[in-house]
Amino acid sequence: MHSIFVTRALPGDFLSKFGSAYSVKVYPYDRNITKDELLTYVKDCSGLISMLSDPIDEDVLAAGKNLKVVANYAVGFNNIDVAAATARGIAVVNTPDVLTEASADLAWALLLATSRRILEGDAMTRDGKFRGWAPELLLGMPVYGQTLGIIGAGRIGRAVARRAKGFGMRILYHNRSRLAAEVEEELGMTYVGLEELLTESDFITLHCPLTPETKHLIGAAELAKMKPTAVLINTARGPVVDEAALLKALRNKEIFGAGLDVYEREPLLTPGLADLPNVVLTPHIASADVRTRLAMVDMVVEDVIAVLEGHRPSNLVNPEVWERRKGDE
Ligand code: GLV
Ligand code: GLV
Repeated sequence: MHSIFVTRALPGDFLSKFGSAYSVKVYPYDRNITKDELLTYVKDCSGLISMLSDPIDEDVLAAGKNLKVVANYAVGFNNIDVAAATARGIAVVNTPDVLTEASADLAWALLLATSRRILEGDAMTRDGKFRGWAPELLLGMPVYGQTLGIIGAGRIGRAVARRAKGFGMRILYHNRSRLAAEVEEELGMTYVGLEELLTESDFITLHCPLTPETKHLIGAAELAKMKPTAVLINTARGPVVDEAALLKALRNKEIFGAGLDVYEREPLLTPGLADLPNVVLTPHIASADVRTRLAMVDMVVEDVIAVLEGHRPSNLVNPEVWERRKGDE
């Protein structure tokens, strides 16, 4: 009997996807699990399905004496100490690909909402303050034909670029490594240095993972390089942006606005951020469409079962674990 613990109830009928060889326990509360609780629950399980809000650190991995696999219900896995998992021979899997389009859709929703001041317009209309058409009512920033700067050209960054084609945009990108020439050509993406991207773009959208190298990639100096009409979109990870510096830039109108789905100290916001009219704030929902969240369930369940039955999972973050296991056979 394999014992599995899931740190938060997942959508759909996910329990039925496990056969009778599995005993699955789900955290019974509708809130993030605390570390102490996690340390207790993880003790007996061989599979752990975690959320991006759960820090899976050395303590948790050490407490999980029978743990063979940690499946993160997310594409990002900066919440997991992968090196520590690898050292313990624990496989780490995630949910790439299935959430690419949903995440790109939300980046675009924020881009349009921020530049065209959708929330201010909604509030005004709801509050009965719409007193008739006016030539200068809620003037926003143009989108069509503008320059989009994409930082991080992985699957999601490229899906954002695909949508930008329909908006007739010039697309710049910056990435650790340059894309193949055919990909650049197909998507109409031009590789530039970070400095050029910051100074040239009307919209800057972040799609890089959170790593020690990308923490505070956008700080006061970078914000100062952006156009005063620029809009910053962050659907990646909060700490990629220095939130205090962003607050200051928005307050002083150094940039036009920001659309944020992620925060530096999630779920807390830097005080003052929510009082600004030129930000659109969503609660980390980039992958939250019904089709995507169900597909993510199938992915974590299949990969947990794969590992526990001795097969290589589809979305292994630390392939070293598998190579070592093969070597031991
Ligand atoms: C969401 O932020 C994810 O990483 O899946
Ligand atoms: C995520 O899937 C990415 O590579 O952008």
